[in-house]
Amino acid sequence: MTRLLEVALPGQAYPIIIGHGLLADPAAHLLPALARPQVALVSNTTVAPIYAQPLAARLREHGVQVLEIDLPDGEVHKTRASFDHIHDRLLEARFERKATVVAVGGGVVGDLAGYAAATFLRGVAFIQVPTTLLAQVDSSVGGKTGLNHPLGKNLIGAFHQPRLVLADLDTLATLPEREFRAGLAEVLKYGFIRDGRFLAWLEERLDDVLARDPAALVEAVYQSCRNKAEVVVADERESGERALLNLGHTFGHAIEAGLGFGSWLHGEAVAAGMVLAAEVSCAAGMLDRGACERIGALIARAGLPVQAPDLGFERWLTLMGSDKKVDAGRVRFVLLNAADHAMAGCEVPADVLRRCLSAGATAIAA
Ligand SMILES: NC(=O)c1ccc[n+]([C@@H]2O[C@H](COP(=O)([O-])OP(=O)(O)OC[C@H]3O[C@@H](n4cnc5c(N)ncnc54)[C@H](O)[C@@H]3O)[C@@H](O)[C@H]2O)c1
Ligand SMILES: [Zn+2]
Repeated sequence: MTRLLEVALPGQAYPIIIGHGLLADPAAHLLPALARPQVALVSNTTVAPIYAQPLAARLREHGVQVLEIDLPDGEVHKTRASFDHIHDRLLEARFERKATVVAVGGGVVGDLAGYAAATFLRGVAFIQVPTTLLAQVDSSVGGKTGLNHPLGKNLIGAFHQPRLVLADLDTLATLPEREFRAGLAEVLKYGFIRDGRFLAWLEERLDDVLARDPAALVEAVYQSCRNKAEVVVADERESGERALLNLGHTFGHAIEAGLGFGSWLHGEAVAAGMVLAAEVSCAAGMLDRGACERIGALIARAGLPVQAPDLGFERWLTLMGSDKKVDAGRVRFVLLNAADHAMAGCEVPADVLRRCLSAGATAIAA
């Protein structure tokens, strides 16, 4: 089963195609999206041999000029050096304005390739072929591209919408379990922030999703992308509703930075961060205890951490203060007023915050 979703951005609408076996025949979806048969396939050294190289061979069979650009693997390589390398290769190969950059990989490859596409010759067409669950449900949708600076993550970048997102869920077969579960944190997030029906579906079908049952995966990725697309269309440049997507992220970023990036995966930190957000919401009187426990229970069933590490209250504050989503020096949080409804821009009384951060998420984990 293949599902199609349209991201209805005015003037730059694009389709997201979700299914299995989508990379097997480039003539079905990829070729029609090219303005000219000239493609730069950007991937990394882990993903390229499994997915990008076979795709390159198939595209060449259709007469497409393919330039394969393989970056070193890892968040530590989401740098200007990798970005420059993409441009160098495109220029050496004399790629033209009607060329298409295709990202085959996780969020790191997608963000870098997208930013390179946004800036090469002032912008060329871009296609996402996400191969991690996180990239399929989150980073490939919404048009944010960029790279990390030594002073912080994702500080340099641009908005550049893809022309097509082709999510072939067959690629998940080789994704390590830990990466899969980390991606699942973002899937659960959509249920918590705005989609009660999806939340109920996840509670019913989580075991099938964890077993990577093909039909369950299509539904989970489709509903996630639909939610992200609706939020992005309502608020393309992140001033209002898009902030809801940051549920658990202020706490999560603090955990990632506090433990040293790479120690916890992003999704793991977000999972514990969402539990903390629920705890804080409950302590602030916004959320009832039952809803709070429902959130913790689903995150625990997904095999994700529900207990944030003890960073110490002062260090929490410092780390959250360095999050770039801080508004005029005040930390504002995305909190929950139901298990399936979040609100952005919430201020939290200092004593409530201190109590929750000092207690960690023990109450829920128990
Ligand atoms: N642009 C956005 O809106 C947005 C949103 C969320 C996250 N991000 C960014 O996404 C990045 C994280 O993305 P990620 O979690 O996909 O990490 P990633 O790109 O580092 O991929 C995780 C690991 O899985 C490997 N991998 C990828 N696909 C595979 C497959 N099918 N089989 C086996 N291994 C595979 C990768 O080589 C890597 O080692 C971060 O840099 C983050 O900032 C961007
Ligand atoms: Zn995230």
